[in-house]
Formats: sequence, C-alpha cells, structure tokens
Amino acid sequence: MSGALQQAEMPLASVVARASEIAREAGARLKEFFAAGVETEYKGDVDLVTVADRTVEKLIRLRLGEAFPEHGIYGEEGTRERLEGEYRWYVDPLDGTTNFAHGFPQFCVSMGLEKRPAGTGTDSDGTLVAGVIYDPMRDELFTAERGGGAWLNGRPMKVSPTRVLAESLIATGFPSRKRHASPNIHFYHEFTLRSHGVRRAGSAALDLAYVAAGRMEAFWEFNLNPWDTAAGILLVTEAGGKVTGFAGESYKLDSREILASNGLIHEELVKMFEALFAGRDLEPIPTPQEYAKQRAARLGPGQSKA
Ligand code: IPD
Ligand code: CA
Ligand code: CA
Repeated sequence: MSGALQQAEMPLASVVARASEIAREAGARLKEFFAAGVETEYKGDVDLVTVADRTVEKLIRLRLGEAFPEHGIYGEEGTRERLEGEYRWYVDPLDGTTNFAHGFPQFCVSMGLEKRPAGTGTDSDGTLVAGVIYDPMRDELFTAERGGGAWLNGRPMKVSPTRVLAESLIATGFPSRKRHASPNIHFYHEFTLRSHGVRRAGSAALDLAYVAAGRMEAFWEFNLNPWDTAAGILLVTEAGGKVTGFAGESYKLDSREILASNGLIHEELVKMFEALFAGRDLEPIPTPQEYAKQRAARLGPGQSKA
C-alpha cells in the first residue's frame, strides 16, 4: 500500500486531533514571543511581519511534514510544498499580526485542510475537510471536520439563532495594503447603523471562529487570502452557518471577498450588499464640517473651537 493511500485513509478525526496538537504547540510559541516582545518589519504599506510569524510557520511546516508527509502546505510566509498532492494545508501561523505587534491580545494560528482529488483543475477548489484555529491567549481551540461538526475545546459549536440583522453583532476587517482602494469604511458605516454593532478585532480567522461559536452573527471582508479563511469557512459551515460571496454566490478559496453568517440573516445581508453597491438605502450622517457647524450653533460664540 502506498504512503499516499495510507494518508488518504487516515480518519478525519485523527487528522484533526494531530493538527490540534500542532496548533497548540505553535500557539504556545506565539505566546512566548508575545510575552518577550518582538520587533516589527514592514512587508508593505502597513502590512507587518515579525520573527514570530516566520518562526511559527517553520515550526508548523516541520510538524505537518512529520505528521502528514504526503500533504501539501501553502503558508502565508512563503511555504509552498507538495502542492500537486491530494491534500493541501492552508496555514496562517499568526493571524492578527498587527494586534500581536502592538501587544493587543487577539490573534491565533489557523490551519485548514483541502482535499483535491486527482484531476482538480488549478483554478478549481477541492473540498475543505478539516479546520483548526487556536487562540493561545484564551486557550480556545476551534476545530471542525467535514460532515462531523465543529467544536470549541471539545464541546459542539452551533451558530447563533438570531434571525434579524437589527439584533445582530457582526464583524469585518480592513486591508493592510492599498488601503485607499478599499470601500469598506462605507459598509462599516451602513452596517453599524443597522445592527447591534460591527467589531473590527483584527483577526479574520477568529472572526470566523466566533461566527461558528454563535458569539457573532456574521462577518464580511473584501480582501482575504485562503490562509485567512480556509479553516474558518469549515468551522462556520459545520456549525450550521453559511459562507458565500457578497452576492450570495458560492464561495471559492481565491474569491477574496467573503460573507459568512449564521445562515438566518444571510439573505438580508446579501440584499444589503446589493442595495449599497447600487447606492440605494444609504443612511445619512453629518460630515465633520456639518457636525462642527451644528456644535458651534449649539454652544454659542466663543465656545465653538475644539
Ligand atoms: C489580517 C487579519 C485582519 C484582516 C486582514 C488580514 P494577518 O491577517 O486577519 O483581521 O483584516 O485583512 O490580512 O496579516 O494578521 O495574518
Ligand atoms: Ca491572516
Ligand atoms: Ca498572518
């Protein structure tokens, strides 16, 4: 029996268990770097990277290679190994680098496994079959296996039962490159006025994990990579939620634009995206200048500055 066949036959539960150990070891390493403090370099614009991102990707690459020698690895910090194989891990060794670099304790390790049967075209997706996200600061391990459900520290997870956007807590993120090309602040503004609030916590993988855990009803972002989303997508779908593009179209790993929700508010969100892209239903708020004028009128002469 070939090594490849043995790997393919390994039960998904065992794959998730081994990947969980690797994510825990990687998370413990991140926590040590976090406590010691690290220097920050720029990859571009405000796209930061640290020695922790690189060291932990090397560690994960080594451990995945030992555990699953036939599996491919596609990592944010440059790992590209065995990508022709039937299985491929998408690895973000540190999702939330900006938080990490500033001492803001919201970041994680994210590892998602895609099965790509022979013959899958280079521009086609396989199937996500396993996902592991570990938050070392809270010691929270989010896991999922295709068809087997999703868990938080071993307990089953379910998405939130909230049925309307007006009663939802949602999340988004902003790009760290080409920031002036992103329209997302307009969407942030509109969704803020129509929900319980929009969180921008700085780790897309944890945002997805939180939708799966029922802590938030939805998450969207304009410009993500497969290493940010692969594990989280499986968590959300296995916890009973839905993941699509902004128009409700089926999601592909290289789509970049993602809309994830508990499923129940998904249609409402898709309709909102459609209206906002068409320039309809915009909620007016004062410009800073208009607000300054209103404030001056309220406070009277001599008190209008600052
Ligand atoms: C970033 C985080 C952030 C999201 C950015 C990502 P990184 O990943 O997930 O929440 O808004 O788009 O690039 O760079 O910290 O791995
Ligand atoms: Ca990331
Ligand atoms: Ca990263």
